[in-house]
Amino acid sequence: MDKYENTPLIKALHNHVLQGRINMHMPGHKQGMGFSSAFQNNLLSYDLTELPGLDNYHNPTGAILKSMEACSEAFGALKSYFLVNGSTSGIHASFLSCFRKGDKVLLNRNCHISVINALILFGIEPIFVMPEYNKEYKLPIPASFDDWKNALYENPDVKGAFVTTPDYYGICQPITELSTLLHCEGKILIVDEAHGTHFPFSKLLPETALEQGADICVQSFHKTLPALTQSAVLHIGSALIDFEKVQRAISMITTTSPSYIVMSSMDYARDFAKRNGSTQYEKLLTKLDELKDQLMKMEKLRIVPDEIDGIKRDPTRIVIDTSLTDITGLELYELLYDEYGIVAEMCDTYHVVFILTMSNTSDDIAKIANAIIRIDKSIKNISSRTCYDNPPLSASISSKNYSVPDLYDFLGSTRQIQLEDAEGCVSAGLVTPYPPGIPLLCPGEKITENDIQYLKKLLTSGFDVHGLITAENGSKMVRII
Ligand SMILES: Cc1ncc(COP(=O)(O)O)c(C=O)c1O
Repeated sequence: MDKYENTPLIKALHNHVLQGRINMHMPGHKQGMGFSSAFQNNLLSYDLTELPGLDNYHNPTGAILKSMEACSEAFGALKSYFLVNGSTSGIHASFLSCFRKGDKVLLNRNCHISVINALILFGIEPIFVMPEYNKEYKLPIPASFDDWKNALYENPDVKGAFVTTPDYYGICQPITELSTLLHCEGKILIVDEAHGTHFPFSKLLPETALEQGADICVQSFHKTLPALTQSAVLHIGSALIDFEKVQRAISMITTTSPSYIVMSSMDYARDFAKRNGSTQYEKLLTKLDELKDQLMKMEKLRIVPDEIDGIKRDPTRIVIDTSLTDITGLELYELLYDEYGIVAEMCDTYHVVFILTMSNTSDDIAKIANAIIRIDKSIKNISSRTCYDNPPLSASISSKNYSVPDLYDFLGSTRQIQLEDAEGCVSAGLVTPYPPGIPLLCPGEKITENDIQYLKKLLTSGFDVHGLITAENGSKMVRII
């Protein structure tokens, strides 16, 4: 009898672990590699609740408060709040505490799905600032300061700006000029720094959002530090923010049973990174420099450089570009998985992204070098296939006519329609190729023929597009209002 017959999830996890694959994805502790054995061995016994001496998350005055204060100190924040439901909850709490229904906010279009959900939940109107596009590497590039400035001057009634940096590919938007301008105009800057939690711990890493003047920044500990999945933090960086309001907002959307093991893993990760970050990142980046030197010599696959269009990338985020080859990012991801036992973080049409952290070993790095170089050699021809270029952005995604739908319209009174027949209809949901989780269609947007063609191409290449519904005959449907 199968000993896991009645526990399908445990069975799946057990089987995955048995395969002993090389972990190039989150969470950053890499299946415990980043934890001391003492911490690891005690984890389950730490799964406790509000007992004497263990403080209370919703009104912290003891151990939790001390740990959050140590966190503020390490990250250079005025105040930090632990989150136990990822950056998603920090993003929601930021919108809830800083804006009111109907407020306008400047927002980079390539934001995470949790930001779009925050707009709908709290009735905030985005003024989208469109990213630019690097044709060579087929990557979104953050909008320039001038674009943000113009958007601000064209919309002087915005309450602030929300910026995502770094993005999934490690591309960092410089925000010092933007924060200065916003502050001069009496506006605030909130930053989704979910992928940059490690930045404060080495001078070799990019500047942090707080160093560049963010008033709030939200970070996922679990993505790049040795901490458990769901661990994240909201930092306040300036006195423009009402601390109490933020705390109340976080409390409103957080379970009354916050996980002590998730919180303790943030205590662990912050302490570990503060004591060892400088040496650990120097070691990791030296190894990664060797890897990059090797991968630069490839002829067909390419490694995306650490600087692109003059914009810095997180040097720990390795991105391989397949756009000059006959294989897609998905095919490269699958080759690495099936033939080399390497699990990357994500892929899209042209890229495979690897998350490397302090918890990866030199052996892991040598194995990706070997695998990618071998795959590069096995690719016969540089492709002449038609490339899908910059995703066509729906004409209705403009600051002039986009309006978030009412929350209850979004949740109900909608119907499904064949994707082919949806031209001119209004999307009821998010349609997001995932990862990287950048919405192609937002709720309330008109669906264009370009959108339909682009989605069909992604689907034919085997991409997972969230928000589309698969009909019984396998065709794709979209939900419309
Ligand atoms: C840019 C960005 N922001 C926010 C989030 C949400 O983070 P979490 O999964 O910690 O809720 C993600 C998740 O992938 C992300 O990529």
